[in-house]
Amino acid sequence: MTEASLPFNERYYPSIAKFSNGEIRKQESEKALKNPQEYWAEKAKAIDWYKPFSKALDDSNPPFYKWFPDGELNICYNAIDRHIKGPRKNKLAYIWEGEMGEVKTYTYYQLYREVNKLAKALKNLGVQKGDRVAVFLPVIPELPITLLATARIGGIHTVVFSGFSAEALADRVNDCGAKVLVTADGSFRRGKPVAIKDNADRAAPIMPNIEKVLVVKRTGQPVQMKEGRDIWYHEALANAGANVYVEPESMKSTDPLFILYTSGTTGKPKGVQHGIGGYLVWAYWTLKWAFNPTDEDIYWCVADIGWITGHTYNVYAPLSHGMTAFLFEGTPDYPGQDRWWQMIETHGVTILYGTPTAVRMFMKFGEALVLKHDLSSLRILGSVGEPINPEAWKWYYRVIGKERLPIIDTWWQTETGGFMISPASGIELTPLKPGSATLPLPSVNVDIFDEKGQSVPQGTKGVLVIKSPWPGMLQQIWKDPERFKQTYFGRWPGIYFSGDYAVRDPDGYFWLLGRSDEVLKVAGHRIGTVELESALVSHPAVSEAAVMGKEDAVKGEVPVAFVVLRSGFTPSDELRAELIKLVRTAIGPIATPDAVVFVNKMPKTRSGKIMRRLLKAVLTGAPLGDTSTIEDEGSIEDIKATYAELQKQIGSK
Ligand code: WT7
Repeated sequence: MTEASLPFNERYYPSIAKFSNGEIRKQESEKALKNPQEYWAEKAKAIDWYKPFSKALDDSNPPFYKWFPDGELNICYNAIDRHIKGPRKNKLAYIWEGEMGEVKTYTYYQLYREVNKLAKALKNLGVQKGDRVAVFLPVIPELPITLLATARIGGIHTVVFSGFSAEALADRVNDCGAKVLVTADGSFRRGKPVAIKDNADRAAPIMPNIEKVLVVKRTGQPVQMKEGRDIWYHEALANAGANVYVEPESMKSTDPLFILYTSGTTGKPKGVQHGIGGYLVWAYWTLKWAFNPTDEDIYWCVADIGWITGHTYNVYAPLSHGMTAFLFEGTPDYPGQDRWWQMIETHGVTILYGTPTAVRMFMKFGEALVLKHDLSSLRILGSVGEPINPEAWKWYYRVIGKERLPIIDTWWQTETGGFMISPASGIELTPLKPGSATLPLPSVNVDIFDEKGQSVPQGTKGVLVIKSPWPGMLQQIWKDPERFKQTYFGRWPGIYFSGDYAVRDPDGYFWLLGRSDEVLKVAGHRIGTVELESALVSHPAVSEAAVMGKEDAVKGEVPVAFVVLRSGFTPSDELRAELIKLVRTAIGPIATPDAVVFVNKMPKTRSGKIMRRLLKAVLTGAPLGDTSTIEDEGSIEDIKATYAELQKQIGSK
């Protein structure tokens, strides 16, 4: 979608909320930016500290900002222990539904018992403060339990999405030097067990740091347990003892809490490192502003805990509020295409935090499936992961929200820790516009810059930047402070570069227009094109590869690979299948190219750089624009013809 086609003036006023023109958050922002010390010292009182901080922000060494630097706390204590001392002790913390429909619930007290047992078991395995614990689990209760137990004893968790390949797992585990891995025998997908331990086993020989592997029994399928290394999770817990108590470690606010790998513009994923205090304060307040949690809520964030959305909004934010959160292991269209609506009705979900890709998929399934279910428990709908196109927004609003519920479209990133630009609810709700994430949350100092670092006027597209530090911001890239500085603050000193395009409309509303760099958003998953390219050129037949995003009606975009073969190799369907398999092995099924196009040569500049812009134009059918710097005009004709040929083949299947 281009900025010219955005419905800048279309406004919606869902009946449920109180409206304001954004005055309240503007006032909050002014307070926060004028005096961040005072503002954040006040906000941080929502958190329990073991040792109070004397100062909210140390900004003496930008961009290495330190939040609540001399404060001490434990995030697991804030998520669990503080609730069991009060009326929420027997309130449900989690309701979990498995792929096969089985339901498990945990009260805060039960969660406390489980987390203590695992904390003890991890200690028994030798995990100490500062050690990294790698987690390769499907969405089962043991996943949040592992995060909380690790944090309780001062460990640093690094979750690797369970759909990643063995190679991708090993890359991440090796980069952070984890010594314990927590995984499962498998998971259920569309009614069938799929293996997970197999991938961990394949990765094991190339993960020299891993000493112990805890294995959750989920599916009961046969697995190989390596003597001396692999231990069943349930046995480790039984050995820990039934009612153990493990004192939460008193951690410095600036100690790392987790590392989460995400894709950027190089072949090597970045280990985004978040600290404890600032991250928790941000998680707490952003949830409060956007979703206004109450004790009556059953809150469902559909994201896998393998991504940042799950870390912040399935674990730390809802638990620190003492909410009841719903977790779902599986597939949105199994056994029926109304699985989501059925679960919302069964469990009485009040907040649904979903994704544009899911909404577009449900649009395709048709609204009759939705209308079969009573969704009257819902009070808020959320969206995250990619821009939501106005058409999907309106369907979500009308069919799911019955023109009654606000759509909270939250723009943020792995690096930001929590929401940045989003409508609020509760304190106020700005009138909504389909497709706009509306306005920055309090204290978020965003702007849109042109190439030269000048703020652009409204209506002009530019790159989104953040001009002041915020508590949820990443601390650094794990063990690579220089790369952190370069990547995010290298363009304009003191200015955080988001990598997204955006435009502001006459009301000051922000419209996010996708990535400005070589990163794709495939069904909301962040995938670096360079990672795919590196995988492709590792094949002996491939001399050059360029991967582009192509618009997709459901997934937003999908990767398409242009490949030049070495002499002596000829294009074939077998080779195409081999290359696709190679990408799945190197990264995982989420990165599967939609098409592999064999071309004779790449369009290049005279200095030898692949002209990605031209490849993109071929995909979108857009005009090629200026081709005067192209080295060989013939290359582009070749690519157009080859692509058209491939399209025909795909179309005729
Ligand atoms: C990128 C960050 C945010 C948590 C999940 C993804 C895109 C995310 C939106 C939104 C438009 C969005 C951006 C961003 N994005 N949410 N509401 N509207 N774009 O985290 O994997 O770090 O990806 O996702 O392009 O830069 P992530």
